[in-house]
Amino acid sequence: MPKFRAPRGTTDLLPEEQPYWDFVSGQVERLCRAYGYGRIEPPVFEDAALFERSVGAETDIVQKEMYTFQDKGGELLALRPEGTASVCRAYLEHGMHNLPQPVRLYYLLPMFRYERPQAGRYRQFHQFGFEAIGEGDAALDAEVIDLSWQLYQAFGLRDLTLVLNSIGTPESRSRYHQALREYYRPHLDQVCADCRARFERAPLRLLDCKQDAALAEAAPRSLDPLDDDSARHFQQLRAYLDALGVPYKLDHRLVRGLDYYTRTVYEIQPAQEGSQSAIGAGGRYDGLIQELGGPPTPGVGFAGGVERIILNLKRQGRQVGPGAAPSAFVASLGEEAKTAAVRIAGELRRAGITALMGLGGRSLKAQLRQAGALGAPYAVIIGGDELAAGVATVRDLARGEQESVPLVGLREWLQARVVRPPS
Ligand code: HAM
Repeated sequence: MPKFRAPRGTTDLLPEEQPYWDFVSGQVERLCRAYGYGRIEPPVFEDAALFERSVGAETDIVQKEMYTFQDKGGELLALRPEGTASVCRAYLEHGMHNLPQPVRLYYLLPMFRYERPQAGRYRQFHQFGFEAIGEGDAALDAEVIDLSWQLYQAFGLRDLTLVLNSIGTPESRSRYHQALREYYRPHLDQVCADCRARFERAPLRLLDCKQDAALAEAAPRSLDPLDDDSARHFQQLRAYLDALGVPYKLDHRLVRGLDYYTRTVYEIQPAQEGSQSAIGAGGRYDGLIQELGGPPTPGVGFAGGVERIILNLKRQGRQVGPGAAPSAFVASLGEEAKTAAVRIAGELRRAGITALMGLGGRSLKAQLRQAGALGAPYAVIIGGDELAAGVATVRDLARGEQESVPLVGLREWLQARVVRPPS
């Protein structure tokens, strides 16, 4: 038994997983750049108070899930549970409010939440996200939602639903909280113990209570007490989404578990049901920058969970890109040929061809077996006869056919067969 294992809720991203990661991050980079977003990479830990202020001191993320620690200098720090707070902190710290607004930023970062691990829910996970800060126009919400939606289309995921709601301003929200308390007060015995405890300080969370779905369904709608400006904003957003051809489903029960949201909130959900099902979520946060000590500055953004996206790609049988299999395996017979094999493998790698070679003095048969097990399409065989003739015997491992290729032209011969044009 090994003495150590990766901590609970964390994973080693092994080479065979990398094609999925390359694929997802490649699409994120390509589309974020096309929409004019610049990359930002804040530190892994921040002042713990930053998340209390932004995500909310009463939220599950801050109360139960944050990796908070005191460093040797006595500072109270936290591993970031999400990216929006850090990006807004950086926006202020670097005077980005002096740049042309809105400022568009994207990221792809590990996040940390002390949650109960299960499929698609981890303690260290990765989010890609984007934030557009400095503009309240509903057309910017539409842009961010469109970027989110186009990304999931680019991933090739099927059967997704974009669920949309508006939760209004902090004032209309507190009126709504009041209405919810009045509605739930006589029914507190029908909700779970957690929700009973949250009833006073976070009544919105009761809408997520799984104990009595019919009770939540009949609860007052967040849209009903929406103030006029928020209602207009929401109407404009819907018209822009229609113009963009982005499909959405309204759900007045969508409230989100972070405190900074105002007006627009949305989630992207796969067909498979379950409380952990959102594979991305976002919304508007018009009060957040001010909460962090800046001038009143609106903002809107989104974050997607990379592990959950990959889980869904696999469930849907989506194949992505080439794996880590070598394009060529150089096998040799004898010490003189081995020196030549070292040189040839080196030349092929420098030409961009993934090449491995037989090591440890194994027999030719064992080397060819290894080439097959690694998934190499070609074995380049060098023995005394080949060296004398200045050729390599190249075997197509799938077909079992082989031919003699002059060493001087070997690189071009392989390049023509295994190097794909960049996509
Ligand atoms: P969030 O809903 O907390 O929002 O997280 C966004 C996404 O991260 C989720 O939809 C899910 O796919 C993924 N995720 C969250 N927790 C885990 C976990 N424990 N394991 C695996 N995946 C997870 C935010 O974080 C906001 N900052 C989004 C945002 C950006 N709003 C505005 N801008």
